[in-house]
Amino acid sequence: MLVTGHTGFKGAWACLLLSELGADVMGLSLPPDEPSLYTQTEIKSRISQNHLIDLADLEAVRSAIKATQPKIVLHFAAQSLVRRAHRNPVETMRSNVLGTVHLLEALRSCTSVRQVLITTTDKVYHNAEHGLPFREGDRIGGHEPYSASKSAAEMVIAAYRSSYFAKLGIPILVARAGNVIGGGDWCEDRIIPDIVRSIISHIPLNVRRPNAVRPWQHVLDALEGYLLLIQSASHAAPDATLEPEHAAWNFGPDVEDHMPTVEDICKIAQRRWPNRFQWSHIADPYDINESQLLLLDPSRAMNELGWRPRLAVSDALNETFEWYRRFVDGEDAKLLCAEEIAKQIRVRVETMNRRQPT
Ligand SMILES: NC(=O)c1ccc[n+]([C@@H]2O[C@H](COP(=O)([O-])OP(=O)(O)OC[C@H]3O[C@@H](n4cnc5c(N)ncnc54)[C@H](O)[C@@H]3O)[C@@H](O)[C@H]2O)c1
Repeated sequence: MLVTGHTGFKGAWACLLLSELGADVMGLSLPPDEPSLYTQTEIKSRISQNHLIDLADLEAVRSAIKATQPKIVLHFAAQSLVRRAHRNPVETMRSNVLGTVHLLEALRSCTSVRQVLITTTDKVYHNAEHGLPFREGDRIGGHEPYSASKSAAEMVIAAYRSSYFAKLGIPILVARAGNVIGGGDWCEDRIIPDIVRSIISHIPLNVRRPNAVRPWQHVLDALEGYLLLIQSASHAAPDATLEPEHAAWNFGPDVEDHMPTVEDICKIAQRRWPNRFQWSHIADPYDINESQLLLLDPSRAMNELGWRPRLAVSDALNETFEWYRRFVDGEDAKLLCAEEIAKQIRVRVETMNRRQPT
């Protein structure tokens, strides 16, 4: 199995989960930005091939695909940050659009490939902030470069699906996940890593958008959804005529769940670290067209794949903060992740056993 973006947050968790499940995992990404979960959990020692290359380099991508000969590809690699995309739209388009083209171009002549899953984002939706959770059939299109790059990637995927992959019998699945949280995310401009950095450095946090609401979910719940999607696609023939929105799957918290604002999350952190975490609201110096309210409806994945998040949003936040608390207190990231993965697998096995007829 090839994981792109394995030096990033989601990709590192995917490598840990997949290797725990017994898969032969290989990685393809840029080198990590430090600190990283990749280094903290020694991913290098858990994978059989490690290609630290740029997706913008087509020849490097071709030779990595030739060397890995993957059956299943999980494509996470992307410039994933909205504010960085605003500062550097060209880098973002290059990684997210051209990078996707290069990967698919290299994969279409690779005879080992059986399935490809590509993560875009909840931010692909054209967000008029009407207050309703987005469903897969809703219009896509971004107001800012990150969203636009991921919407454009979906168009690229649709073209490669109908022109090449459907004819080869290889499904390309698109997962649109909500905002993923969990231990070991050290990316800039994400609320939980920002809170943890503020606690470690004793520098109060400036919060730009305290009223923002996102479909928060635990990283292991999102990953489990992707694996179920891959499993379900192994039984179905790919459809060349699928429009991008109908080939996509939302993964997010239950729409009935209470969705906290960024301010609510800061208050939870303050209760956990009284006297150690302080924050204030500072108006955004850049005028980025980031949406205030973003909700996702994952009923398709729930109904058709039988997927359910293990954790309600409040529990996902608690587990995430607990991971960081223990890490900051000196515990080993490898053991903390292994504990979370064991919990996830145990709950799933129990659920499956309950569903089995006696
Ligand atoms: N984290 C979230 O909340 C979230 C939500 C929705 C969608 N996503 C998407 O999920 C995927 C993974 O997100 P993440 O949180 O792990 O991001 P991340 O920023 O932590 O990791 C990104 C990974 O992509 C790699 N990468 C970036 N540009 C590259 C390039 N040109 N060539 C090769 N590798 C490159 C990086 O090296 C890194 O390994 C991304 O596609 C992101 O857009 C993330």
